[in-house]
Amino acid sequence: MRVAIFASGNGTNFEALADDQKLKDAGLEIELLVCDQVNAPVIDKAKKRNILVYVNSLKDYPDRHLYEQAIIDKLAPLKIEYILLAGYMKVVTTTLLSKYAGRIINIHPSKLPKYSGLDSIERAFDAHEKETGVTIHYIDEGVDTGPIIRQETVPIFADDTVETLEARVHEKEHQIYPEVVLELLNK
Ligand code: GAR
Repeated sequence: MRVAIFASGNGTNFEALADDQKLKDAGLEIELLVCDQVNAPVIDKAKKRNILVYVNSLKDYPDRHLYEQAIIDKLAPLKIEYILLAGYMKVVTTTLLSKYAGRIINIHPSKLPKYSGLDSIERAFDAHEKETGVTIHYIDEGVDTGPIIRQETVPIFADDTVETLEARVHEKEHQIYPEVVLELLNK
């Protein structure tokens, strides 16, 4: 399975996918990292692993359609089958969605539909929730919406700080994203 990973930031989920031996053994081929932030740490993580990087900034285009069309032009010759969003902080429009219908997967650090959008972990913490979670889903045109593939609960403890909670959420993400992709591969 030939995939492109889209990311905007640190890239810890990118690493979890790229370094998973079971995924490699099952035939996952990460052909490309698409990144919309020129200084994102994920870029070096891809280069270190000899994964092709395409940095593409929305501000270089007059609109989102042309921005996404440039991405499509990059993906097409690589014969990308699936797109895995791993901390890609842009809403995807119909331009990309129509080309890859049912083949774009996102990970989000909350139990969707709760806490969609930005700062999901902090907002769950600030609201004194007893639990939050991680959701992996196919995307549609909304913000963090679309059919859910897998959702897991992450407890919030009385002595948590935002940092300890963040670490627990990320640990769950790094566990289940490779598992979900492996299930997809084995289908
Ligand atoms: C992850 O927590 C991911 O769930 C979140 O961004 C973080 C990226 O971390 N994605 C979203 O909020 C999407 N709406 P990473 O760059 O270390 O993988």
